Amino acid sequence: MTATNDKPFDLTIRNGRISNADGTFHADIGIRGGVIAHVAPDLPPGARDVDAMGRWVLPGGIDSHCHIEQLSGMGVMCADDFYSGTVSAAFGGTTTILSFAAQHRADSIPEVVAAYGKLAREKAVIDYGFHLILTNPDETALREHLPKVIREGITSLKVYMTYDKLKLDDYQLLEVMSVAGEEGALVMMHAENHDMIRWIAHRLLERGHAAPKFHAVAHDALAESEATNRAIALARLADVPVLIVHVAGRETVDVIRNARRLGAAVYAESCPQYLFLEAADSDKPGMEGAKFCCSPPPRDADSQEAVWAGLKDGTLGVYSSDHAPYRFDASGKLPKGDATTFKEMANGVPGIELRLPLLFSEGVMKGRLGIEEFVALTSTNHARMYGLAPRKGAIAVGADADIVLWNPERTVEVSAAMLHDNVGYTPYEGRVLQGWPEQVFSRGRCVVRDNALQVERGTGEYIARGRPDPLDSRPAASLERGRFSELVGLSRGN
Ligand code: URP
Ligand code: ZN
Ligand code: ZN
Repeated sequence: MTATNDKPFDLTIRNGRISNADGTFHADIGIRGGVIAHVAPDLPPGARDVDAMGRWVLPGGIDSHCHIEQLSGMGVMCADDFYSGTVSAAFGGTTTILSFAAQHRADSIPEVVAAYGKLAREKAVIDYGFHLILTNPDETALREHLPKVIREGITSLKVYMTYDKLKLDDYQLLEVMSVAGEEGALVMMHAENHDMIRWIAHRLLERGHAAPKFHAVAHDALAESEATNRAIALARLADVPVLIVHVAGRETVDVIRNARRLGAAVYAESCPQYLFLEAADSDKPGMEGAKFCCSPPPRDADSQEAVWAGLKDGTLGVYSSDHAPYRFDASGKLPKGDATTFKEMANGVPGIELRLPLLFSEGVMKGRLGIEEFVALTSTNHARMYGLAPRKGAIAVGADADIVLWNPERTVEVSAAMLHDNVGYTPYEGRVLQGWPEQVFSRGRCVVRDNALQVERGTGEYIARGRPDPLDSRPAASLERGRFSELVGLSRGN
């Protein structure tokens, strides 16, 4: 198809230096009906032309792990709704989010999914989909509701190995994995050993160690690596792929890398807080340290190096925000004010807007990552892992025109005041970043330009997702198939 034998483009983005996960080239992009219609040099004018000279033209970011308008396991409501959350995402160069439809144990899954869908439909300014958080895998959930929501486009689910109100035991995890395997859904695992954390926390509190900095002590790196190892073993037994979310510690990176070397279908995610924060940040006067507490906690410089290495060598295939926005007051981090213990603080840090600028500045501009690696980690790999490809994740004919123009020359000093979330602080206050996403297009609509929002609330679209297509060709069963699968009735939907 040529541009000239068809209707004119609605929009042409000219003179761009375009990077996809598989290469960089100079071309114009012709967009029609929200979709990329042509990518080639010297395209004819569109109804609107945008000059991208001097800008890096990248696929819109996909943030596949963020908590928006969600009630946490501890019963705390996020500070961001689907308006502030998606506006903040867009200003940071993200054009699609996958957040959570979170079941609490008494909830009916179809009702949960419908409720989150309604909230997002009325408010989101960019495209969105959901993962299910599953906390009560009873017979109805396993046999009826889970297969139904997976078939309707929620093709991934998150399960927890810790938190009293969320955790599943190993038997339940196997049951969930087996259904996910049959339906072709991806299991995302919050892997921390519940009893290790509980035991340390109990002893700390008994001795009066209640300040925020003790959160990182309680969530020891061994709790993370042990649970990760166990999650991988369970997934191997159930013969399904698993994705370990928010990897923080060196030992966990090593556990995942080793399992992958054995051929296991194990995938993993890390987040800005594990590259740019440390446990020491939570050691601040008063309650200030609570702003840096999430689970698993940021660790130390050595673990930061391990996370960088894991992102570089493919051990960690996706980089998400795990935006978990809680205000620094009684509605969020500090239910009992200054008397709040580390066990009572809401867990989580904000990061939906700074996820990409932080990695662009500290990764790409400082030479730790190539621009194609940046695109893979922030967009393309999410699209594949979570069944959004080929619609999302690349600048290619037929894909949605989700495109971000980055100015590599722009220097920005981070402050909470410049961000668009509803949190009121940022753990990255005062950092100076090189490079910034200046123009953001979602399905060809300009969402952000001249530092201003250009679209109305409710204009984002729900994306019913297809089957996850894991990032490499390792079969889930590369280690196990044939051992006992038939005897115990394990069958794969693919
Ligand atoms: O501390 C965190 N990460 N809170 C958000 C909930 C979760 O487990 O992802
Ligand atoms: Zn988690
Ligand atoms: Zn999370």
